[in-house]
Amino acid sequence: MSEKTALITGVTGQDGAYLAELLLAKGYDVHGVMRRSSGFSTQRIDHIYRDRHENDIRLHLEYGDMLDALGLRRILTKVKPDEIYNLAAQSHVRTSFDQPIYTAEVIAMGTLHLLEAVRDYQEMTGRQVRLYQASSSEMFGNVRQVPQNEHTPFFPRSPYACAKVHAFYQTINYRDAYGLYACNGILFNHESPRRGETFVTRKITRAAARIKLGLQDKLFLGNLDAKRDWGFAGDYVEAMWLILQQEDPDDFVVATGETRSVREFLDEAFGHLKLDWQKHVEIDKRYFRPTEVHILQGDATKARNLLGWKPKVSFKQLAHMMVDADMELAQREKTLTDAGFPVHAADGRPVCGTRSQSKPLKGLVRREIESEDRSSASPRATAL
Ligand code: NAP
Ligand code: GDD
Repeated sequence: MSEKTALITGVTGQDGAYLAELLLAKGYDVHGVMRRSSGFSTQRIDHIYRDRHENDIRLHLEYGDMLDALGLRRILTKVKPDEIYNLAAQSHVRTSFDQPIYTAEVIAMGTLHLLEAVRDYQEMTGRQVRLYQASSSEMFGNVRQVPQNEHTPFFPRSPYACAKVHAFYQTINYRDAYGLYACNGILFNHESPRRGETFVTRKITRAAARIKLGLQDKLFLGNLDAKRDWGFAGDYVEAMWLILQQEDPDDFVVATGETRSVREFLDEAFGHLKLDWQKHVEIDKRYFRPTEVHILQGDATKARNLLGWKPKVSFKQLAHMMVDADMELAQREKTLTDAGFPVHAADGRPVCGTRSQSKPLKGLVRREIESEDRSSASPRATAL
């Protein structure tokens, strides 16, 4: 019997996968909320998922959606969690300009649905649930001070950031009004080999590896001068857990304290493969945002002092780790294309040059290839 039960919304995302691993390692029973989809969305957690017919299963998946308030209540009643980590979001800032209402529904209203469900659940059962809200450095937006800490005013610059500000204050208000143990982690950008392929770091490492192996030649990017405080996702999920282990609920900035430009990330990633990015990168205005966040740099002194948290992976190690993982992926693609097999995305669209245009491959390849921005031929690539 596990000591604690955790519920993770957004378990199929980058952070959800690392957090599920961490909590399982700590002996938790972990329930993840996932959306029903016509394809597979569990690639990031397949390695920790075990068939429910086996014994001692501690990772469970529940179908749910942040837009379905009643469904969330049912899950809560069924799972009876001690801790909830609300990670689900339409998390792509550029996309939020194209889908502002949907983004706000999922992030702002979705969080409110969850807070309401927790409030009623606590009142009815008398059981206390601890809730972590995935707040974002994007809320600082047009920054009022550098570096940013828990006292820095917000100046959101995207529909995504506005929705996150709403969820941030709702979380605090439920804490103050109803005594919920609810906390915000204001996390700065964190990346990993599991990062979605349309975020700039992964887009770069994926392309660098493919260029190295001759699978593509060009990489189209937007604003290379933007600066971010980039850390490793594996380190950041530890901070999430620590935040919920404190005696009193509170809000914390989680960051490395260092800021680098997209250009510097290009230097590090392409340099690791001894490539000159200037020969391959072209600017495409479609990747610029209507309103940009030019610089983010966090001051995580409070997290260091009260949680004892500090990042372990450096900027250089992070970039190299991501490039190395993407080299393995590109090697597999190259092996297949060299052998004349087409490499297909989840939707069956060919993403690599092929000798024969035969039927889409199934299984392994379909799951590995999530092409987004790697080729300008892809319809999805042009959007993000
Ligand atoms: P991610 O990889 O994009 O994962 C987002 C997760 O949310 C996925 O599991 C996704 O499911 C799920 N989701 C999206 N819409 C949903 C809905 N309507 N109902 C239920 N689930 C839904 O994001 P991440 O990088 O892991 O980030 C985790 C959280 O931290 C997000 O809230 C993000 O906004 C926030 N955050 C991230 C960073 C960062 O740098 N990574 C920094 C600060 C804050 P599918 O797999 O089905 O798409
Ligand atoms: N995605 C993308 N694609 N970004 C690009 C590109 C490109 O081709 N070219 C330049 N950039 C710039 C963006 O304009 C932005 O300034 C920076 O690279 C980082 O973009 P993303 O990697 O998309 O991340 P983000 O900072 O907008 O948002 C991420 O971090 C937030 C925390 O600050 C996401 O993970 C959010 O969910 C998270 O809240």
